[in-house]
Amino acid sequence: MKSDIPLQMLGGLTAREFLRDYWQKKPLLIRQAFTDFENPLSPDELAGLALEEEVESRIVIENGERPWELRRGPFAEDEFSKLPETEWTLLVQAVDQFVPEVAELLENFRFLPSWRIDDVMISFATAGGSVGPHFDNYDVFLLQGQGQRNWKVGQMCDSDSPLLEHADLRILADFQQSDEWTLEPGDMLYLPPRLAHCGVAVNDCMTYSVGFRAPSAAEVLTHFTDFLSQFLPDEERYSDADAVPVSDPHQIQHDALDRLKRLLAEHMSDERLLLTWFGQFMTEPRYPELVAGAEVEEEDLLADLEQGAVLIRNPSARMAWSEVDDDLLLFASGQSRLLPGELRELLKLICAADALHSDNLGQWLHDEQGRTLLCELVKQGSLGFAADE
Ligand code: SIN
Ligand code: CO
Repeated sequence: MKSDIPLQMLGGLTAREFLRDYWQKKPLLIRQAFTDFENPLSPDELAGLALEEEVESRIVIENGERPWELRRGPFAEDEFSKLPETEWTLLVQAVDQFVPEVAELLENFRFLPSWRIDDVMISFATAGGSVGPHFDNYDVFLLQGQGQRNWKVGQMCDSDSPLLEHADLRILADFQQSDEWTLEPGDMLYLPPRLAHCGVAVNDCMTYSVGFRAPSAAEVLTHFTDFLSQFLPDEERYSDADAVPVSDPHQIQHDALDRLKRLLAEHMSDERLLLTWFGQFMTEPRYPELVAGAEVEEEDLLADLEQGAVLIRNPSARMAWSEVDDDLLLFASGQSRLLPGELRELLKLICAADALHSDNLGQWLHDEQGRTLLCELVKQGSLGFAADE
């Protein structure tokens, strides 16, 4: 995607300007980011998803059995008819994995790395419905899909910001409003991480939240060191072959810290392992059980593709690629593969294309390493045959 073309979905800003001035910094209201927006999902279809076992859903009722009552899905059909007339919200996570038209919305966000995108959450709210003033630790684009919603934004928050006592919801005890807008279908509001916000439905409305993934520093440290430690032999230890006689045997001298720092720095700066871990971590699927592999033989795969079969990316799979020296790394759903540089165009195609077939695979079908890779990805479940083939 070109970074210097004004984009309507960014209110006429170029991707470069948006990233420089707003991304992770301040909110941006974009009127008619999507003109004539056609809501790809009806409230009934959203409610239908919330009945499914594998779909994560919640209902927040402002004045339920207690203030801000939270119910977790999957829901039974009759639960919806027992809800109050107004002031409740249904929220369904990762709808992009279940509804291709919702996944298509993400094509508009290709000016950001796809591995930064987490999911599209969709909410349906009745008049007065809200999940309360809160902050999120990630960036979000809030696209109004249907009806109107009033958004108030407030102060920047952090983990010391006082919250209401609530077992499940993180509702701010104190909200200092700094701006307010009412969004119509097609309008979009970008919010940086930690900015307090509160959206209240004016009437029956649907909001699409495009949320992003950003590991916390604590996650980076714990997960990376766990990953790293698999490669470290037990005999590699704190060592002090450079020791000199100590004046006080009970004192930990700073030269001991220097040895530790050297040991840590040596491993922490291993770029290849850091990249491998990061790619695996960022492509971990939200629902690993939905990335189920299939048994397939390479010859059969080739024959099928040659006869017109289509491979599609599993909507629950996540993919990315990277370079390491002259080689390439392909990350697919939490796994990595080291591959030769000649496969670069195939890796790019696999990551970008929704469907793979003999037309776009072309010569790759006759490349042994390329075929093996496709076969492995089918076995892993990141790719699968299109249903109607
Ligand atoms: C909502 O859609 O009701 C809530 C979205 C959010 O504030 O993160
Ligand atoms: Co939020």
